Amino acid sequence: MDSLQQLVQQTFIARFGNQPSIIALAPGRVNIIGEHTDYTGGFVFPAAIDKEIIIAVDKNDTDTITGFSVDFNEEASTNLGAYDPTHPKEWFRYILGVLDELQTIDQPLEGFNFCIAGNIPVGSGLSSSAAVEMATCIAMERLFNFSLEDQAAALLCQRAENNFVGVNCGIMDQYISRVGKANHAVKIDCSDLTIQTVSINTPDYSWIIVDSKKRRGLVDSEYNNRRKECEEGLAIAQREFSEREISGLRSLSIADLGRLEKVCSPIVFKRIKHVISENNRVLETEKALLEGDIKTIGDCLYASHASLRDDFNVSCKELDSLVNILKDTGDVAGARLTGAGFGGCVIALVKSDAIGSVIASIKQHYTSDCLQENESAAIWPIVISDGARIIHKE
Ligand code: GLA
Repeated sequence: MDSLQQLVQQTFIARFGNQPSIIALAPGRVNIIGEHTDYTGGFVFPAAIDKEIIIAVDKNDTDTITGFSVDFNEEASTNLGAYDPTHPKEWFRYILGVLDELQTIDQPLEGFNFCIAGNIPVGSGLSSSAAVEMATCIAMERLFNFSLEDQAAALLCQRAENNFVGVNCGIMDQYISRVGKANHAVKIDCSDLTIQTVSINTPDYSWIIVDSKKRRGLVDSEYNNRRKECEEGLAIAQREFSEREISGLRSLSIADLGRLEKVCSPIVFKRIKHVISENNRVLETEKALLEGDIKTIGDCLYASHASLRDDFNVSCKELDSLVNILKDTGDVAGARLTGAGFGGCVIALVKSDAIGSVIASIKQHYTSDCLQENESAAIWPIVISDGARIIHKE
């Protein structure tokens, strides 16, 4: 048995005195490419990873929900149906958000106990929050005998985050946490939520994640601002190209940028320029993956990073420095920040036989105020995993 599962199960037994009846797992994710494109109906290309949230649950025959977070070493509880979006324990809000959304769709619940833990570094851009939401959702489905379609479950968890946590996130993280597939990335068309699984097997090259250890802080408002700016750009484009059907930024092409530059503020113009070019890069990367064209994949990754840095302005010195160090090794096809930005991780495609020396270069050259003494960036190979699932049922 997985050691995280063991920890959650044993903690549950120690606190509540009985075996949990269900244990559920939901993974974090890495986004290969397609950043800040989901909330304007664009393309994203994430994969579920082997870092996860595990939740153990059991009914308790009361009207109370009581749970324990191993990571925060804290207990929290609430009455059934009384879900407070301003609950002082932030980690508990993600769970309350899901319960509240289930209540909104009239899904009957009963009191239960739970224990939750994870190994996705919080604030690292690998979607620990979506994994908490999706683990809660799937555990509730099994505990109370109902089942949601994948899209409905993802949308429900997204609403939980929008309404309870206050981040106006798109659909990518919750959806991939649900539909991820081992060894495959999933291209999501965020206008209709159709998906395409694509093997990211790259002969002679390996995918790695490098965690800068810079944690996102106070950025939820920045995220929400970017979203507003993109929505403003979309409204302007719809006016400017009223003769065309513009349902999302992805209906626009590079050729439209000349006209858009004249009617948008410089900031809004940069934001939509990023999104339009990023949507193209997702499609290009998908094609290059199918053709085994490493050079094109790598170019798309670097171009995505430059666009996120210069046009979308969501990078930071730590992420830029890691991408530069990786590039300078000469053994990396491409690298970019992954996730919302402002800190967190870089994804890179590295020559398999040079991984050791690439790691050594990062250790030698990467410095940041965020690192403790003798600490370096964390580096690990990407293991692409399945989406949310039940891992134990009595
Ligand atoms: C966060 C959000 C996603 C997406 C990314 C940026 O992870 O939750 O919906 O917008 O940022 O691509």
